[in-house]
Amino acid sequence: TPKGCMELLHRSGVEIKGKRAVVIGRSNIVGTPAALLLQKANATVSIVHSKTKNPEEITRQPGAAIIDVGINPVDDPASPRGYRLVGDVCFEEA
Ligand SMILES: *[C@@H]1O[C@H](CO)[C@@H](O)[C@H](O)[C@H]1NC(C)=O
Repeated sequence: TPKGCMELLHRSGVEIKGKRAVVIGRSNIVGTPAALLLQKANATVSIVHSKTKNPEEITRQPGAAIIDVGINPVDDPASPRGYRLVGDVCFEEA
């Protein structure tokens, strides 16, 4: 997943070197390796997690390339399964 995120950034023409990057979440399978890959690509990386005191302040600093790899089930009676999967980001607000 983290390598896929880097690939998305590359293919979208987003230059990483010298940029601020914020990773929300520090899981072993996504957040932490994503932060390491971004750092290896010469971004300046902040990791925001559940104990971060000022997440809004940190996430509002960088510009606007956002990748959402969150997975949440939400009720959806129109779906055959009764639910559908959505991400973490409210893109209108972000
Ligand atoms: C990151 O910086 C190092 C040290 O200057 C350099 O060797 C490396 O090629 C850079 N990597 C990228 C992806 O820009």
